[in-house]
Amino acid sequence: MRKRVVAGNWKMNKTLNEGLALASEVVNMVNDELTDDVSVILCTPFVHLSQVSRIVEGSDKVFLAAQNVSEHPSGAYTGDISVDMIKSVGATHVILGHSERREYHNETNSQLAARVDLALNNGLGPIFCCGESLEIREEGNHVRFVTNQLEESLFHLSEDDITKVVIAYEPIWAIGTGVTASTEQAQEMHKAIREFLANKYGADIANEISILYGGSCKPSNAPELFAQADVDGGLIGGASLKSRDFVDIAKSY
Ligand code: PGA
Repeated sequence: MRKRVVAGNWKMNKTLNEGLALASEVVNMVNDELTDDVSVILCTPFVHLSQVSRIVEGSDKVFLAAQNVSEHPSGAYTGDISVDMIKSVGATHVILGHSERREYHNETNSQLAARVDLALNNGLGPIFCCGESLEIREEGNHVRFVTNQLEESLFHLSEDDITKVVIAYEPIWAIGTGVTASTEQAQEMHKAIREFLANKYGADIANEISILYGGSCKPSNAPELFAQADVDGGLIGGASLKSRDFVDIAKSY
């Protein structure tokens, strides 16, 4: 059966010392309290990865992710970070295509397809983000928009590779706004995504792929969201910056 995943996207928050303290708190709470089979992933800024890696090392439930990766393997790309570098500091996953990167750095579906390949070819698990703006939702085009993102960035993958991708549905209008998608809105989209995957890869494979919800997810709404048939966990922004809230979300199944 598909994995339950709760990933914390720290975005551009926390100095190194603050980040190390947060990671230690999360690992200790997860060790003491998390009895369910849930993978907890800390998606930290690049500069924190190598030291947070030492904190999560001994845990069989807490993993480490970068928030982006270059689509080039190496070379003259000042300021970029390669997949080898990320792997070499102990990360196992990478967020790709977060809406903030699509918006502020003009990341495109085809660029993301190349990053997905590079990550998978080097043993890094992509957490692939998709999601529509409020305008697109109000036009009624949200399902078509999101499935198109998946088609253009993921549908070249083999059956084996697609099962290594975690998909995060994050409606842009719900990110950092305090407005959460209703459980019906979340389930509708997650079901549509799974059906779209099933049409391409078959129901068995679609059923193996974890689909996370993201957008103002917090301890108070996580249980209802995670109870939906096609919601396998969450990609958590703001609430991942507080260890208590984040671990409470991971305990919400
Ligand atoms: P939020 O962010 O939980 O602060 O809304 C989610 C995300 O952007 O991954």
